[in-house]
Amino acid sequence: MQNFTYFNSTRLVFGRGAENDTGRIARDIMGRCGKVLLIYGGGSIKRTGLYDRVMKSLEDAGLTVIEKRGVQPNPHMGLVRETVDWMRDQGVGLVLAVGGGSVIDTAKAVAAGLEYEGDCWDFFEGKAKLEKALPVLAVLTLPAAGSEQSIRCVITHHGTKTGVGAECLRPKAAIVNPELFMTLPKHLIAAGVVDMMSHIMERYFSATTETAYVDAQAEAALRTALEFGPKVWENPKDYDSWCQIGLVGSFAHNGYFGMGRVEDWACHAIEHELSGWNDAIVHGMGLAVVIPAWMRYVSKKHPARFVQFAVNVLGIEKQDDDARTIELGIAKLCGFYQSLGMPITLRELGAADCPIESLARHCCRSGRVGHLEPLDAGDVTEILISAR
Ligand code: NZQ
Ligand code: ZN
Repeated sequence: MQNFTYFNSTRLVFGRGAENDTGRIARDIMGRCGKVLLIYGGGSIKRTGLYDRVMKSLEDAGLTVIEKRGVQPNPHMGLVRETVDWMRDQGVGLVLAVGGGSVIDTAKAVAAGLEYEGDCWDFFEGKAKLEKALPVLAVLTLPAAGSEQSIRCVITHHGTKTGVGAECLRPKAAIVNPELFMTLPKHLIAAGVVDMMSHIMERYFSATTETAYVDAQAEAALRTALEFGPKVWENPKDYDSWCQIGLVGSFAHNGYFGMGRVEDWACHAIEHELSGWNDAIVHGMGLAVVIPAWMRYVSKKHPARFVQFAVNVLGIEKQDDDARTIELGIAKLCGFYQSLGMPITLRELGAADCPIESLARHCCRSGRVGHLEPLDAGDVTEILISAR
């Protein structure tokens, strides 16, 4: 195990009606400043009545609200720039995101942009170090990306999806009321479960050894997603099951499961090429295609970890032949994805025509991706070809 510092500064406010405390929490974070920039997406929060409840809570706390709507899934830099230009020098004290990962990531990018004199795409290109951002508060409506507690922010610009990570981006508080998830369509419920599991798996599939404690924690969280994911997919009104999924999703990406080990992230790097190439692709659905193909490719060189995953997470009986145990595990994972209506091939994803070689080259533009097995463009090409 490696040395580490674990520090998660996000206050998690969880449960029924939690969004009614938004104003009080915002006030608490901002101190004397009274101006909030509210960011949201295409309108689901208006249809569900959440917008009205959040606005009332902000008004009750005596806060002035300026709002920006229209964040689209796989959010674009254009809206970030437009919002930063519009809001600069207006004395905003906090950026409030009400939505899923795309809204929260847009809020993070805007929060960084408002504290930076240049163009905040500089942070994504590595031209400037991101050290300062306005505080972000997230009211979560979709458990998936984990952005409500993460240091990451993922934005698309000219067909390139790029992530940046900095502690200052981590939301000061995450308001998670599992009742808000009940209006999600089935494909987003499933994609969310795939995504949150992948955030744990990107940390679990590590070359670092002697990690029994975090392994066991990760395995338990993954089994929880396997048990309760289908329950909320079957019955989106099942509050108690949503609570379990909401917790898995929020903790999956706050760094906990990465304690003391090197993380992988190859599957995310590959998937971001797909949803950057075509932003109609849902991130979690792209992952359902990439992960099994990556597993088949990488497990040949690192069988032990994949056997442990098959046995401890998927409940496969250990076979005499490791390759057989691993294949049974991957097949069971694929069956799980399919049972939730997820694609497991590029064709089913609607990406049969994606330019595999150029996506693979772009994926590895800064060098190899992944740590368990560092992959070059040739490896990524083979993985994507096998996913056809
Ligand atoms: O825009 P509205 O009308 O609100 O509709 C949204 C959107 O169309 C809808 N939705 C959200 N909550 C709803 C709802 N519909 C009905 N009822 C509700 N309660 O869901 C659609 C998708 O929303 P989006 O925010 O795009 O989904 P998700 O949370 O999966 O976020 C995906 C984005 O996060 C990035 C992904 O790459 C992608 O861009 N990621 C961010 C990460 C991070 N910052 O740490 C890590 C992840 O790995 C991921 O890469
Ligand atoms: Zn993800």
